[in-house]
Amino acid sequence: MIRTLTLSFAIALGLSGAAAAAEGESKVIDYDFSFEGPFGTYDQFQLQRGLQVFTEICSACHGLKYVAFRTLGAEDGPGLPEEQVRAFAANYEVFDETLFDGEGDFRPAKPTDHFPESSLSNAPDLSLMAKARAGFHGPYGLGINQFIRGMGGAEYTASLLTGYTGNDKEEAGAILYENTAFPGGWIAMPPPLYGDDVVYADGTEATVEQASKDVAAFMMWTAEPKLAARKQAGFAGTLMLTLLAVLLYLTNKRIWAPHKRKVKHPAE
Ligand code: HEC
Repeated sequence: MIRTLTLSFAIALGLSGAAAAAEGESKVIDYDFSFEGPFGTYDQFQLQRGLQVFTEICSACHGLKYVAFRTLGAEDGPGLPEEQVRAFAANYEVFDETLFDGEGDFRPAKPTDHFPESSLSNAPDLSLMAKARAGFHGPYGLGINQFIRGMGGAEYTASLLTGYTGNDKEEAGAILYENTAFPGGWIAMPPPLYGDDVVYADGTEATVEQASKDVAAFMMWTAEPKLAARKQAGFAGTLMLTLLAVLLYLTNKRIWAPHKRKVKHPAE
């Protein structure tokens, strides 16, 4: 029975793999991230590097409108000192309606302000993108791959940035770039990374793959800043429920013990 099950399972997995390859579906590399697994947490230095990549490269087109500058100081996030958060925010200008007798005017952003919206109309906001995309699917909508490998939003993002083939084509007046991770294979985003696009303060070499993984991790953090706290709460909850289950089992046994006591059958 179990062998048949395993066999059909393997066939299903194999088939879905073949189907994916046949459709030319997006190719997502299973990059390793520190925040994977039940106890994984963000790597603070990686988040800082990712913030740098976003700020220096991606923010030319993309916004992060749901992210407040002050969150960059979060201990379980990039953990920037308060002074740095203040200075970082002050690089941006926001429109303040209360200024200038109600007419409004621009002023330097404060930590309580948010990152700007996308400046390019067809570039999506990236605040929640890492959770809006799945790197791993199926098989057959069962979600087994997601269960085993995770949703893969960060893997998808990193694969997208490393997935350019160098080919492009013009279609309806727009240039599309061939990308092995993007569903459909052609994306309107020009390759943003070429290697050594940023100079990391911590000395990490800024290869395309490194910068891609760093910014993907940063985007995972913007999409789910409380990941570590959620995992901890989940673990504590599971532990408590396990304990409760054991106690309930013992209680149940004890309550029913007098009634379940083995009596000899009169006939014997
Ligand atoms: C020159 C402008 C530009 C820059 C710079 C840029 N992007 Fe994009 N990006 C776009 C556009 C345009 C799209 C929409 C592409 C489409 O839908 O075909 C896009 C889409 C995306 C998507 C969504 C893909 C999807 O599955 O829908 C992600 C993720 C993304 N960009 C990440 C980044 C990251 C990370 C950076 C910085 C390393 C970056 N982008 C830099 C223009 C840009």
